[in-house]
Amino acid sequence: MSEPAASSPKEIIPVRIAGTGSYLPERIMTNHDLEKSVDTSDEWITSRTGIRERRIAAEGEHTSHLAAKAAEKALEQAGIDAADVELIIVATITPDTLTPATACYVQQHIGSLRAVAFDVSAACSGFLYALELARHSVGSGAFKNALIIGAEKLSSFVDWTDRNTCVLFGDGAGAAVIVPSTNGDGRILSCQLGTDGAQAELLNIPGGGSACPVSIDAPSDKLAFLAMQGREVFKHAVNAMKKAAIDAISAAGLTAKDIKLLIPHQANLRIIDAIVERLEINRDDVFINLDKYGNTSAAAVAIALDEANRQGRIESGDKVLLVAFGAGLTWASAIIEW
Ligand code: UT7
Repeated sequence: MSEPAASSPKEIIPVRIAGTGSYLPERIMTNHDLEKSVDTSDEWITSRTGIRERRIAAEGEHTSHLAAKAAEKALEQAGIDAADVELIIVATITPDTLTPATACYVQQHIGSLRAVAFDVSAACSGFLYALELARHSVGSGAFKNALIIGAEKLSSFVDWTDRNTCVLFGDGAGAAVIVPSTNGDGRILSCQLGTDGAQAELLNIPGGGSACPVSIDAPSDKLAFLAMQGREVFKHAVNAMKKAAIDAISAAGLTAKDIKLLIPHQANLRIIDAIVERLEINRDDVFINLDKYGNTSAAAVAIALDEANRQGRIESGDKVLLVAFGAGLTWASAIIEW
């Protein structure tokens, strides 16, 4: 029997982010609003998480609608016509429907009728998983461009009577357009992904899938809501995000001092502080918006990247570190030279 040919990884050409966009629903729900419905306080939520308010999608406004609005802004900034988009990847754990993928609805909403479209389910790390898929898809020459979107309507999957979870999450979407890089206009330097399925039970939505189908007889079944062992997840989040950040920095041949801006997943200010301390990154060089939006899972890093971009926090040549962590457990990091 002949030996299999030694596999050599195919070269991929550098790619860059040509445009970003985000969309947050209009309705604001403050901590004080939540005080009226569950046994909590603004003081508890602010001191334990840093969250002050979150956005809630309107009735009839689905994940795909949020995603489409963010996508249109990213395409406009990139100067790319929706009709010319070749690949759409939506990262979400709150799809419009179990099937088809939310990306298919987005394709229709924005009119990217030639695009191949599918979803990625990697929870809060999903946008960076989509980034890595797009980097290879465009970098290999298989697609000329890719539209990646992190979008969530978590308000539909939160138990509004459970103070342990309902104060944490919000709705929103962020997007980026990936294109080949030409000399001197930025590129993605490294991307690191990780998964630990042994810890799947720590954070999940147990019902609604084949293991526990939705029952018409019990529409308010709590199994259809997001469940989390917060303290355990917290510990894993700090360790995994710290390691992912260090791995991305080292894979890019950099040190922490080279990082102009850290954009971490926006779950809890205490998690962010713990990571920043361990990475020895200046607190002023960390982008934080969780006070306004809470944890928007796959959308969080994408929204933060767009806000940092549009607020002028990132300039040409800056190295930006993105790092995320979520259900799975999953984690991911990337370094982008802007
Ligand atoms: O995005 C994916 C990744 N997700 C995360 O990274 C989230 C990670 N976890 C966390 O951020 C934190 O663990 C939480 C914010 C979820 C919870 O904070 P904590 O400091 O770990 O609180 P705890 O769960 O240990 O609860 C402390 C106390 C408990 O009361 P007892 O048992 O000490 O009497 C809770 O019942 O706080 C109570 N509590 C609340 N009190 C007022 C929990 N939620 C609330 C609330 N308001 N909303």
